[in-house]
Amino acid sequence: MTAPLKHSDPVIVHVALGSRAYDIVIGRDVLASLGARVAALRPGVRTAIVTDRNVAKHWLEPAEATLAQAGIATSRIIVEEGEGSKTYAGLERVSEALIAAKIERNDLVIALGGGVVGDLAGFSAAILRRGVDFVQVPTSLLAQVDSSVGGKTGINSPQGKNLLGAFHQPVLVVADTAVLDTLSPRQFRAGYAEVAKYGVLGDEAFFAWLELNHAEIFKGGTAREQAIATSCRAKAAIVARDERETGDRALLNLGHTFGHALEAATGFSDRLFHGEGVAVGMVLAAQFSASLGMIPQSDAARVERHLADVGLPIHLQDIAGFAQEGLADADALMTLMAQDKKVRRGRLTFILLEAVGRAVIAGDVEAALVRDFLTAKLAGRA
Ligand SMILES: NC(=O)c1ccc[n+]([C@@H]2O[C@H](COP(=O)([O-])OP(=O)(O)OC[C@H]3O[C@@H](n4cnc5c(N)ncnc54)[C@H](O)[C@@H]3O)[C@@H](O)[C@H]2O)c1
Ligand SMILES: [Zn+2]
Repeated sequence: MTAPLKHSDPVIVHVALGSRAYDIVIGRDVLASLGARVAALRPGVRTAIVTDRNVAKHWLEPAEATLAQAGIATSRIIVEEGEGSKTYAGLERVSEALIAAKIERNDLVIALGGGVVGDLAGFSAAILRRGVDFVQVPTSLLAQVDSSVGGKTGINSPQGKNLLGAFHQPVLVVADTAVLDTLSPRQFRAGYAEVAKYGVLGDEAFFAWLELNHAEIFKGGTAREQAIATSCRAKAAIVARDERETGDRALLNLGHTFGHALEAATGFSDRLFHGEGVAVGMVLAAQFSASLGMIPQSDAARVERHLADVGLPIHLQDIAGFAQEGLADADALMTLMAQDKKVRRGRLTFILLEAVGRAVIAGDVEAALVRDFLTAKLAGRA
C-alpha cells in the first residue's frame, strides 16, 4: 500500500479518568517514538513486550529498537496468535514469563498486538504482583479503535468469552497507523465495522465523512489517522463518563447482541470475525429499529449500504455455512441471544437507533418482538 505524501503530526487523544488518565498517541510511524515516550513516563523502567507470532514477525524488532535507543531494558514474550491464547493456559504462560523477566511493581508490561494480546497481557499485568502498569501498542484496526482503549482486560473461560477479567487502564496507548499495512485486508475490514459503529451510534457527521472517505482509510492515507482519532475520541468520551459500564458505555454494544449470537453460532471461528458479526448485527439493529418505527427504512438502508460498500457482510445469508448452522431459524437465534444477554421476564436489552448518529439503550424490549422481526427477516419480509 502506498501512503500519500503528507502525514500530519501525531494526534493525541486524552482519556480523562482522573488518577487513571492517559494519552492515546495516533499517527503514522509513531511506533518509533515508543522508547522516548516510555522513558519520559517512567525513567529507568524495565519492560517486557508481550506479542504474538504474526505481529512479532513484522513489528517486534522495531519496537525493541526504539526501546533500546531510549535506554529501556526489555524482554520478549511471544504467544501463539489467535483467540486460543486468551485462556488460563495463555495467562499462566505470560504471567510466569513476566515473573521470570523480573517485572516488578514499578515496571511496565507492553502489549504489542491485536485485541487478543491486549486483553491477555493487560489482564496478566492487572494481577501480577497485585497490579503492574501496562502500555498498549495496538496493531490491529480493531485494537486501535476499540480494545486498547477503556481498560477492559481478560481471558475466556471454556464456558464463555471474556468471563474472567479486570478493569485495568493502560498508562499509555501508542497507535501507529502504518503497522496496519501488514494486517490482512479481511482483518482490517472487520475492524472497520467498529469505526463505522461510532458514526452510527453517536456521530452522523462522522458517518457521512466515512461514506466519502472509506477508500482512503483502507489505502492508508491521512484519512486513516483521522478515522482512528475520531473513533478513539468517541470511545474515550464514553469511557470517561462511564468507566465500568453502568450506563452509557453499553451504547458501544450497538450490533453486538445480534453479533455475539452469530459469533457463537459459528463457534468463534474464522468463518465470522468479530467485526463481521458486528456489521451484520448493526444492520439487524438498524432494521429492527425501523420495524419498530423508530427510524425510517431509508436510514437502515443507509447503514446497510455503507457496510456493503466496504465489503463487509450485512445479511445473515452472507455468513458461510449459514443454512447448516440452523441460523435460518428465528428461535435458534433467540436461544443464542438469550445465552449472551440475560433475558429478564421475556425482555431483552438492545441498543437501538433513533437516527443515524443517535443510539439509545432500550432496556425493555419484548423478546417476542425480536422473534417476530427475525422471522419476518428470514422470510424476506423485513
Ligand atoms: N478489551 C476490550 O475492550 C475489547 C474490545 C473489543 C474486542 N476485544 C477482544 O479483542 C479480541 C479481538 O481482537 P483482534 O481483532 O485485534 O484480534 P487478534 O488480536 O487475534 O488479531 C487478529 C489477527 O491479526 C494478527 N495481527 C494483528 N496485528 C497485526 C499486524 N499489524 N500485522 C499482521 N498481523 C497482525 C494477529 O496475529 C491475529 O492473527 C477478542 O478477543 C475480543 O474479545 C476486547
Ligand atoms: Zn466489538
